[in-house]
Amino acid sequence: MKGILLAGGRGTRLYPATRAVSKHLLAVYDKPMIYYPLSTLMLAGIREVLVISAPGDLPGFARLLGDGSRLGMDIRYAIQEAPRGVAEALLIGEAFIGGGPVCLALGDNILYGEGLPRLLERAAARREGATVFGCPVEDPRQYGVLGFGPGGAVASIEEKPRAPQSHYAVPGLYFYDGQAAALAKTVRPSERGELEITAVNSAYLGQGRLHVELLGRGVAWLDAGTPAALLKASAFVEAVQARTGRPVACIEEIAWRQGFISRRELAALGRALEMTDYGRYLISCGEADDHE
Ligand code: G1P
Repeated sequence: MKGILLAGGRGTRLYPATRAVSKHLLAVYDKPMIYYPLSTLMLAGIREVLVISAPGDLPGFARLLGDGSRLGMDIRYAIQEAPRGVAEALLIGEAFIGGGPVCLALGDNILYGEGLPRLLERAAARREGATVFGCPVEDPRQYGVLGFGPGGAVASIEEKPRAPQSHYAVPGLYFYDGQAAALAKTVRPSERGELEITAVNSAYLGQGRLHVELLGRGVAWLDAGTPAALLKASAFVEAVQARTGRPVACIEEIAWRQGFISRRELAALGRALEMTDYGRYLISCGEADDHE
C-alpha cells in the first residue's frame, strides 16, 4: 500500500506564525508536525509516500525528509497549486497511486494510542472498499461527522454540519482500495470551493463499501490547526514523553522497529543528533534488547 501525506494549504488560522513557514513544519513540542502523520503511515507498514504541499513549501519538506532512504523509505513530492480540497490529493497523486490501494493522511492530524498500530495494520490489510475512523469530540462542527441509522450502522457523513448528527468526527486518515482516484474525479467543489474528502467517503458509503472503525478512549486524536490546539498538542506530547521516557512519533525508531532500517543504521542516525535528547534516545534504542 502507498501513502499520501497532504501538507498543503496556507495555514491561515496560524498566521503570522505560518506566513513564512509551512504549518506542517512547525514544532509540536520537539519535532516537526509532519513527523506525527508520517509515523502513522509507517505504523501501517507503508514505505512509499508522496508528500503533497504548496509550491513555496516543498523545499522545506525535501530538506527535512529527503528521498526517504535514511528511513529505508521512498519519499516523493508533488505540488498542490492552491488549497482546492483534501480529495484533490487523490487526483494529484493518481499516477503515484497507480490504481492500487492508498492511505491518505492529513499533515496536521496527530493520532496516538496503545491499540493504534493494530488498527492501522488491519485497515491496511483490507483490500476492498475504504476504511475511515470515528472519534468522539466535544464539538464536531469543524469536521466530517458520522450519522448513525436506527441499527447503529453508519448512515451518513456530513462535512462541517451546523447541526451534527453525533459527536463522532472523522479524523484525517483514510484507507482506500484502487477506486479512490476514480471516485474523486466525480466530486464537485463544495460551498467552500473545495473537493471534499467527505464526498469520496460518502460515495464509498453509498456503494456499501465503507468500513468505519470507532476509536475508543485508548486513542487520542489531536489536530494542531490553531495556536491553542498547537500548544495543547505540544503539552500532550511533552507529558507522555516525560512520563514514559519514550518519544511519540519517533520516525527513526519506527523505521527500525518496522524493519525498514537496521539497528546499526538507527544508531548512526542517533549519533548525528547526539547533542539532543532525541538523538541520545535513538542511540539507546540501537543498543537496547529487541524486546525493549
Ligand atoms: C478535513 C476534512 C474533514 C476532517 C478533517 C480532519 O477538514 O474535510 O472531514 O474531519 O480534515 O482534520 P479541513 O481540515 O479541510 O477543514
